[in-house]
Amino acid sequence: MDITFLGHACFLLNDGTCKVLTDPFLTGNGLAAVSAEEAEADYIFVTHGHGDHVGDSIEISRRTGAPVCCTVDLAAGVFSPAGVETVVGNLGGWIPLPFGKTKIFQALHGSGVPGCLSCGFIFEMGGRKIYHAGDTGLMADMALLADEEIDVALLPIGDLYTMGPDDALRAVKMIRPKLVIPMHYDTFPAICQNPDAFAAAVEAAGFSAKVLRPGESLTI
Ligand code: NI
Ligand code: MN
Repeated sequence: MDITFLGHACFLLNDGTCKVLTDPFLTGNGLAAVSAEEAEADYIFVTHGHGDHVGDSIEISRRTGAPVCCTVDLAAGVFSPAGVETVVGNLGGWIPLPFGKTKIFQALHGSGVPGCLSCGFIFEMGGRKIYHAGDTGLMADMALLADEEIDVALLPIGDLYTMGPDDALRAVKMIRPKLVIPMHYDTFPAICQNPDAFAAAVEAAGFSAKVLRPGESLTI
Protein backbone atom coordinates (compact mmCIF):
# COMPACT_ATOMS: atom_id res chain seq x y z
CA MET A 1 0.00 0.00 0.00
CA ASP A 2 1.66 3.20 -1.21
CA ILE A 3 0.76 6.74 -0.18
CA THR A 4 2.16 9.52 -2.37
CA PHE A 5 1.78 13.18 -1.42
CA LEU A 6 1.16 15.32 -4.49
CA GLY A 7 0.77 18.63 -2.65
CA HIS A 8 -1.86 20.47 -0.57
CA ALA A 9 -4.61 17.88 0.16
CA CYS A 10 -3.85 15.72 -2.89
CA PHE A 11 -2.65 12.16 -2.27
CA LEU A 12 -2.41 9.11 -4.49
CA LEU A 13 -3.29 5.89 -2.65
CA ASN A 14 -2.24 2.77 -4.54
CA ASP A 15 -2.79 -0.79 -3.31
CA GLY A 16 -1.25 -2.25 -6.46
CA THR A 17 -4.62 -2.83 -8.12
CA CYS A 18 -6.35 0.52 -7.79
CA LYS A 19 -5.31 4.16 -7.71
CA VAL A 20 -7.28 6.59 -5.54
CA LEU A 21 -6.61 10.30 -6.02
CA THR A 22 -7.82 12.84 -3.44
CA ASP A 23 -8.61 16.54 -3.83
CA PRO A 24 -6.48 17.02 -6.99
CA PHE A 25 -5.64 20.72 -6.83
CA LEU A 26 -2.70 20.70 -9.27
CA THR A 27 -3.19 23.52 -11.78
CA GLY A 28 -2.39 26.76 -9.98
CA ASN A 29 -0.62 24.94 -7.15
CA GLY A 30 3.04 25.88 -7.33
CA LEU A 31 3.97 22.94 -5.08
CA ALA A 32 2.06 20.25 -7.01
CA ALA A 33 4.23 17.23 -7.76
CA VAL A 34 2.43 16.32 -10.99
CA SER A 35 0.41 18.18 -13.60
CA ALA A 36 -3.29 17.60 -14.18
CA GLU A 37 -2.35 15.97 -17.50
CA GLU A 38 -0.03 13.47 -15.76
CA ALA A 39 -2.22 12.57 -12.78
CA GLU A 40 -3.32 8.94 -12.61
CA ALA A 41 -6.58 7.77 -11.06
CA ASP A 42 -9.13 4.98 -10.99
CA TYR A 43 -11.23 6.91 -8.47
CA ILE A 44 -11.12 10.58 -7.52
CA PHE A 45 -12.34 11.58 -4.06
CA VAL A 46 -13.29 15.19 -3.37
CA THR A 47 -13.98 16.42 0.16
CA HIS A 48 -15.79 19.67 -0.61
CA GLY A 49 -16.46 22.32 -3.21
CA HIS A 50 -13.68 24.84 -2.57
CA GLY A 51 -11.41 25.42 -5.54
CA ASP A 52 -8.31 24.08 -3.80
CA HIS A 53 -10.06 20.70 -3.45
CA VAL A 54 -12.23 20.34 -6.57
CA GLY A 55 -9.12 21.49 -8.42
CA ASP A 56 -8.61 19.54 -11.65
CA SER A 57 -10.96 16.70 -10.72
CA ILE A 58 -13.38 17.29 -13.61
CA GLU A 59 -10.60 17.34 -16.22
CA ILE A 60 -8.85 14.29 -14.72
CA SER A 61 -12.13 12.38 -14.59
CA ARG A 62 -12.85 13.15 -18.24
CA ARG A 63 -9.35 12.09 -19.34
CA THR A 64 -9.01 8.94 -17.21
CA GLY A 65 -12.64 7.85 -16.91
CA ALA A 66 -12.25 7.76 -13.14
CA PRO A 67 -15.53 8.62 -11.39
CA VAL A 68 -15.62 11.32 -8.75
CA CYS A 69 -16.62 10.03 -5.30
CA CYS A 70 -18.19 12.58 -2.97
CA THR A 71 -21.31 13.51 -1.05
CA VAL A 72 -24.59 13.41 -2.94
CA ASP A 73 -24.91 17.17 -2.56
CA LEU A 74 -21.46 17.95 -3.94
CA ALA A 75 -22.19 15.68 -6.90
CA ALA A 76 -25.47 17.47 -7.53
CA GLY A 77 -23.93 20.91 -7.15
CA VAL A 78 -20.63 20.52 -9.02
CA PHE A 79 -19.99 17.22 -10.81
CA SER A 80 -23.27 16.03 -12.28
CA PRO A 81 -23.89 19.41 -14.01
CA ALA A 82 -20.43 18.99 -15.60
CA GLY A 83 -21.44 15.58 -16.93
CA VAL A 84 -18.93 13.77 -14.70
CA GLU A 85 -19.67 10.22 -13.54
CA THR A 86 -20.01 10.12 -9.75
CA VAL A 87 -20.16 7.61 -6.92
CA VAL A 88 -22.00 9.14 -4.00
CA GLY A 89 -22.84 8.59 -0.38
CA ASN A 90 -23.43 10.80 2.59
CA LEU A 91 -22.03 11.47 6.03
CA GLY A 92 -21.67 8.34 8.17
CA GLY A 93 -22.02 5.90 5.30
CA TRP A 94 -19.53 3.44 3.86
CA ILE A 95 -19.30 3.38 0.06
CA PRO A 96 -18.42 -0.13 -1.20
CA LEU A 97 -15.78 -0.01 -3.92
CA PRO A 98 -13.67 -2.58 -5.79
CA PHE A 99 -10.58 -1.79 -3.67
CA GLY A 100 -12.44 -1.99 -0.35
CA LYS A 101 -14.69 0.70 1.03
CA THR A 102 -14.69 4.34 2.04
CA LYS A 103 -16.57 6.01 4.87
CA ILE A 104 -17.66 9.60 4.54
CA PHE A 105 -16.77 11.26 7.84
CA GLN A 106 -17.88 14.69 8.94
CA ALA A 107 -15.60 17.70 8.74
CA LEU A 108 -16.06 21.07 10.42
CA HIS A 109 -15.74 23.40 7.45
CA GLY A 110 -17.77 25.20 4.81
CA SER A 111 -18.37 23.33 1.58
CA GLY A 112 -18.45 26.12 -0.98
CA VAL A 113 -21.77 24.80 -2.29
CA PRO A 114 -25.07 25.94 -0.76
CA GLY A 115 -26.77 23.14 1.16
CA CYS A 116 -23.73 20.89 0.99
CA LEU A 117 -21.58 19.68 3.88
CA SER A 118 -17.83 19.31 3.80
CA CYS A 119 -16.36 15.90 4.66
CA GLY A 120 -13.33 13.72 5.16
CA PHE A 121 -12.88 10.09 4.17
CA ILE A 122 -11.79 6.84 5.82
CA PHE A 123 -10.31 4.54 3.18
CA GLU A 124 -10.21 0.82 3.93
CA MET A 125 -7.75 -0.23 1.27
CA GLY A 126 -4.83 -2.62 0.95
CA GLY A 127 -5.44 -3.96 4.46
CA ARG A 128 -5.01 -0.48 5.94
CA LYS A 129 -7.23 2.32 7.18
CA ILE A 130 -6.34 5.80 6.04
CA TYR A 131 -8.19 8.88 7.30
CA HIS A 132 -8.10 11.94 5.02
CA ALA A 133 -9.54 14.73 7.17
CA GLY A 134 -10.27 17.15 4.32
CA ASP A 135 -10.42 20.75 5.47
CA THR A 136 -11.56 20.83 9.07
CA GLY A 137 -11.27 22.59 12.34
CA LEU A 138 -10.74 20.63 15.52
CA MET A 139 -13.91 18.84 16.58
CA ALA A 140 -14.81 16.46 19.39
CA ASP A 141 -16.14 13.99 16.80
CA MET A 142 -12.54 13.08 16.03
CA ALA A 143 -12.56 11.04 19.25
CA LEU A 144 -14.94 8.65 17.46
CA LEU A 145 -12.09 7.78 15.11
CA ALA A 146 -10.12 6.09 17.90
CA ASP A 147 -12.49 3.11 17.51
CA GLU A 148 -11.69 2.94 13.78
CA GLU A 149 -8.06 2.02 14.54
CA ILE A 150 -6.68 4.34 11.89
CA ASP A 151 -3.29 3.38 10.45
CA VAL A 152 -2.51 6.72 8.82
CA ALA A 153 -4.17 10.10 9.47
CA LEU A 154 -3.72 12.84 6.87
CA LEU A 155 -4.35 16.06 8.82
CA PRO A 156 -4.37 19.71 7.79
CA ILE A 157 -1.97 21.93 9.76
CA GLY A 158 -2.05 25.15 7.72
CA ASP A 159 -4.16 27.17 10.16
CA LEU A 160 -6.34 30.12 9.02
CA TYR A 161 -8.76 27.99 6.95
CA THR A 162 -8.30 24.72 8.90
CA MET A 163 -6.73 23.42 12.07
CA GLY A 164 -3.28 24.76 12.79
CA PRO A 165 -0.49 22.65 14.27
CA ASP A 166 -1.62 22.97 17.90
CA ASP A 167 -5.18 21.83 17.21
CA ALA A 168 -3.93 19.15 14.82
CA LEU A 169 -1.86 17.77 17.70
CA ARG A 170 -5.01 17.71 19.86
CA ALA A 171 -6.72 15.87 17.00
CA VAL A 172 -3.93 13.27 16.96
CA LYS A 173 -4.48 12.62 20.67
CA MET A 174 -8.17 11.91 19.96
CA ILE A 175 -7.72 9.88 16.76
CA ARG A 176 -4.73 7.87 18.05
CA PRO A 177 -3.52 6.81 14.59
CA LYS A 178 -0.41 4.71 14.05
CA LEU A 179 1.05 7.42 11.81
CA VAL A 180 0.30 11.08 11.07
CA ILE A 181 1.11 12.85 7.81
CA PRO A 182 0.53 16.64 7.73
CA MET A 183 -1.09 18.31 4.73
CA HIS A 184 -2.69 21.59 3.62
CA TYR A 185 0.28 23.87 4.44
CA ASP A 186 2.80 26.04 2.54
CA THR A 187 0.69 26.09 -0.65
CA PHE A 188 -0.03 29.78 -0.11
CA PRO A 189 1.90 32.28 2.06
CA ALA A 190 -1.06 32.53 4.45
CA ILE A 191 -0.82 28.85 5.42
CA CYS A 192 2.95 28.50 5.78
CA GLN A 193 3.90 26.17 8.65
CA ASN A 194 6.86 24.17 9.88
CA PRO A 195 5.80 20.54 9.29
CA ASP A 196 8.95 19.19 10.91
CA ALA A 197 8.17 21.04 14.14
CA PHE A 198 4.64 19.60 14.00
CA ALA A 199 6.04 16.10 13.44
CA ALA A 200 8.41 16.56 16.40
CA ALA A 201 5.50 17.61 18.61
CA VAL A 202 3.52 14.54 17.51
CA GLU A 203 6.47 12.30 18.32
CA ALA A 204 6.96 14.01 21.69
CA ALA A 205 3.33 13.19 22.50
CA GLY A 206 4.04 9.50 21.91
CA PHE A 207 2.74 9.14 18.35
CA SER A 208 4.50 8.76 15.01
CA ALA A 209 4.60 11.33 12.23
CA LYS A 210 6.11 11.46 8.77
CA VAL A 211 6.50 14.59 6.66
CA LEU A 212 6.17 13.85 2.96
CA ARG A 213 7.47 16.47 0.54
CA PRO A 214 5.36 16.80 -2.61
CA GLY A 215 6.21 13.82 -4.82
CA GLU A 216 7.42 11.63 -1.94
CA SER A 217 5.85 8.25 -1.23
CA LEU A 218 5.54 5.98 1.77
CA THR A 219 4.84 2.24 1.73
CA ILE A 220 2.75 1.01 4.65
NI1 NI B 1 -11.92 24.46 2.08
MN1 MN C 1 -8.62 24.01 1.53
